[in-house]
Amino acid sequence: MAATRGGRRRRLWSSSSFSCPPPFLVMLVIISCLLVAPSLAVDTVAVDRPLSGGQVLVSKGGKFALGFFQPDNSSQHWYMGIWYNKIPDTTKVWVANRQAPLSDPSTSHLTISRDGNLVLLDGRRATSPIWSTNVTGIAVKSTVGVILDTGNLVLADASNTSVVLWQSFDHFGDTWLPGGKLGRNKLTGEVTHLVAWKSYNDPSPGMFSLELDPDGSSQYVMSWNMSRQYWSSGNWTGGMFSKVPEMMASNADPVSLYTFDYVDRDNESYFYYDVKGEVVLTRFVVDVTGQLRFMTWVDSASTWVLFWSEPKSQCDVYSVCGAFGVCNADGSIPACGCLRGFTPRRTKEWLMGDHTAGCARNAALNCGGGGVSDRFFTMPNVNLPDGGLIVTAASGHDCEVACLGNCSCTAYSYNGSCSLWHGELISLRGSGGESSISIRLAASEFAGDGNTKKLVIGVTVAGVVVVAAVVAVFLLVRRRKLRTKALRRVEGSLTAFTYRDLQMVTRNFSEKLGGGAFGSVFKGTLPAAPDGTTTTPVAVKKLEGVRQGEKQFRAEVSTIGTIQHVNLIRLLGFCTEGATRRLLVYEQMPNGSLDRHLFDHGSSTRVLSWDTRYQIALGVARGLDYLHEKCRDCIIHCDIKPENILLDDTFAAKVADFGLAKLMGRDFSRVLTTMRGTVGYLAPEWITGTAITTKADVFSYGMMLFELVSGRRNVEQRQDGGVDFFPSTAARMLVDGDIKGAVDARLGGEADLGEVERACKVACWCVQDGEAVRPTMGMVVQVLEGLVDVNAPPTPRAFKVLGDQANYVKFFSALPSL
Ligand SMILES: *[C@@H]1O[C@H](CO)[C@@H](O)[C@H](O)[C@H]1NC(C)=O
Ligand SMILES: *[C@@H]1O[C@H](CO)[C@@H](O)[C@H](O)[C@H]1NC(C)=O
Ligand SMILES: *[C@@H]1O[C@H](CO)[C@@H](O)[C@H](O)[C@H]1NC(C)=O
Ligand SMILES: *[C@@H]1O[C@H](CO)[C@@H](O)[C@H](O)[C@H]1NC(C)=O
Ligand SMILES: *[C@@H]1O[C@H](CO)[C@@H](O)[C@H](O)[C@H]1NC(C)=O
Ligand SMILES: *[C@@H]1O[C@H](CO)[C@@H](O)[C@H](O)[C@H]1NC(C)=O
Ligand SMILES: *[C@@H]1O[C@H](CO)[C@@H](O)[C@H](O)[C@H]1NC(C)=O
Ligand SMILES: *[C@@H]1O[C@H](CO)[C@@H](O)[C@H](O)[C@H]1NC(C)=O
Repeated sequence: MAATRGGRRRRLWSSSSFSCPPPFLVMLVIISCLLVAPSLAVDTVAVDRPLSGGQVLVSKGGKFALGFFQPDNSSQHWYMGIWYNKIPDTTKVWVANRQAPLSDPSTSHLTISRDGNLVLLDGRRATSPIWSTNVTGIAVKSTVGVILDTGNLVLADASNTSVVLWQSFDHFGDTWLPGGKLGRNKLTGEVTHLVAWKSYNDPSPGMFSLELDPDGSSQYVMSWNMSRQYWSSGNWTGGMFSKVPEMMASNADPVSLYTFDYVDRDNESYFYYDVKGEVVLTRFVVDVTGQLRFMTWVDSASTWVLFWSEPKSQCDVYSVCGAFGVCNADGSIPACGCLRGFTPRRTKEWLMGDHTAGCARNAALNCGGGGVSDRFFTMPNVNLPDGGLIVTAASGHDCEVACLGNCSCTAYSYNGSCSLWHGELISLRGSGGESSISIRLAASEFAGDGNTKKLVIGVTVAGVVVVAAVVAVFLLVRRRKLRTKALRRVEGSLTAFTYRDLQMVTRNFSEKLGGGAFGSVFKGTLPAAPDGTTTTPVAVKKLEGVRQGEKQFRAEVSTIGTIQHVNLIRLLGFCTEGATRRLLVYEQMPNGSLDRHLFDHGSSTRVLSWDTRYQIALGVARGLDYLHEKCRDCIIHCDIKPENILLDDTFAAKVADFGLAKLMGRDFSRVLTTMRGTVGYLAPEWITGTAITTKADVFSYGMMLFELVSGRRNVEQRQDGGVDFFPSTAARMLVDGDIKGAVDARLGGEADLGEVERACKVACWCVQDGEAVRPTMGMVVQVLEGLVDVNAPPTPRAFKVLGDQANYVKFFSALPSL
């Protein structure tokens, strides 16, 4: 948005200095000053200073701006709102006319009406305001509107702006800013609540909201359509809400930037939070996806980083995937899919991560009309949706018949008793459930299937044989094609695959190796090369949420392709067909990821010997050193953790997923922070907002090194409910000079204690609070190789804080989490 006229002038003039100006210039300056003097108050709306068109009001300290904006420039919908003025991402924090968009800002204005209220007038429909502060009994011409540095828009007495008659902080949108009170005025019964936008491009009130329990207790609840509760904070216990232990009030803790408190008086009760220091930008927002999110602006990454969110699992949000959607709680991204026979109702929103519009049927049901009747598709292992009605039926078949007999019936489930669903299916969960559900679909969705059971079997068997033969022939043909075609499309050291190539390579993405945060990984096999070499096992990563343009994507990918080192996973090729078909093809590692070997204490994995662990530590350090120092462009991995360390057939370590931070661009922090298990590896600078350097990787590496020593996660809940933080235990043992107890008990004492001590010391240096104190990866390599000795490390401040278990939660709540 354009800066205001007044603002620009002020800056121009203050930068020019006249040592001895000619008299006429002085005159000119004085006259001009007199002319613009009133407009210098750039944060105020008054009767004679309405706000219109591209004009913007900016708060005194420049933190917030107020003006017209257009969330989706493909529609003619304009809104009056408040956004952050100093960051490139013009995040909206408040909207006046949420439900009544304007069509043309140049003829609309925000002004003070005759009755003293702040009003929004649409020039075309001039008569009554489309939005008003609606305060009664104000003296005529006595008020002004002021945008404050807190992001609060106030209607105040013109002669004394501390006298506030109305404020936007009493009428939140979807965002709750520091200094605002979220609660209830017990005298008037008025409540402040947060209501999500309808979609990312539509600020009108959506289905999800957060408010103080309308029943009068001290808990906050999130609900769908203001009626169905799907999350509660638990009651206030004095220091925290009972179900949000990580948000413990921390007023006394100098480490914490935040103050929280719940206030309950005779006249009002509310929750309040504030941030110490002006520099950190934070906000709570009820997202379009129904989660309450606490975000911090990280300047160095130029993005909002998710700090904390509830409900933790996206699938716990009621109706998050909309009607006929299915939510997968297994951590895949996106969590929502459509049922078989359905496709997203609004593709654009769906791709942006808003699935609440749900899915629509591909083919209409026949429902008793002539011809073939509808059929059912059965899904096992689900959690049943809401609203099933139990009817009497003697068998599964009777249950099916009962459903077919009523046009509004869309699904049934039979487990001895028969449940029917009518109309839309809401909140169906797709994985790990214990029930099965049969979804009614048009017969055409089962094209190729027979009509009777016997026939089905016959057709299936015959079909399988025919299909197998066709596939075999097709595969042979494709293989040849793939081989020659692929050769023609080599870019640098990388092969550019088509999506269809990769469908073949992965047998249509049939074998999933893992569901990571960047997208799922599938097993595949590259056909033999013409020179007679054998087939190559590969891992194909289907990237989710890359919004880069084609050219930039290719450029980034070829940069990653040039990086080759024995301790880094090799990228073999890629595919890019539009924004949704972005895939990376990597060499596949037979022994999978390190976390499985370290933390999976089942019998299927053998315990990694100390020697192997030490070599892994060294390998990872060498790989990172190469990324940090030896590449043409230094690469910060940003996500070092055991899940991203892969092991080859000799258990040598290879670092995976490097370069993706850059590839994902601004989406990376979202990806990073929606991942489980990442929290404990993130360096403190991710939250303090200082620049992220290679030392952030060093911190994560140190945390992982502790886990290599102990063979378990650094943070573990004890049986008694307390929390163990291994790094501080190890630090204490180092001080006591007795490190034996730190080693994984499964090794039965088979470990070189000199190496163990060296590893623990290095790890402790790596996780120092100050990044300058942490060693470089190159130094780590030298120490682990035994070329350089290492001093006793100081105990990181975080450990001292964490030594007291009560503080543990506080510390980790200060790190981004799911
Ligand atoms: C709409 O916004 C997009 C993305 O910001 C931009 O590329 C496009 O030029 C805009 N279109 C118009 C008509 O302003
Ligand atoms: C102001 O009052 C009018 C009429 O009572 C009502 O329609 C409108 O929604 C109110 N506006 C606000 C912002 O409360
Ligand atoms: C403005 O109002 C505040 C609050 O009512 C009061 O404390 C202050 O003295 C007033 N200032 C002036 C200049 O009247
Ligand atoms: C939301 O609630 C209102 C009234 O409580 C009801 O009329 C409406 O149908 C509900 N919306 C949906 C989508 O269920
Ligand atoms: C909070 O307190 C109210 C009564 O004051 C009680 O009904 C409710 O169950 C409590 N909530 C939780 C989560 O314990
Ligand atoms: C409630 O009372 C306190 C002082 O007792 C006062 O500061 C506060 O403004 C009052 N709040 C409301 C909503 O009246
Ligand atoms: C179908 O089921 C709905 C919901 O139970 C019921 O209201 C309706 O009367 C039924 N229709 C017929 C034709 O049985
Ligand atoms: C069958 O499903 C119904 C409805 O979901 C449930 O109430 C009942 O406990 C289930 N019965 C068995 C035997 O699992």
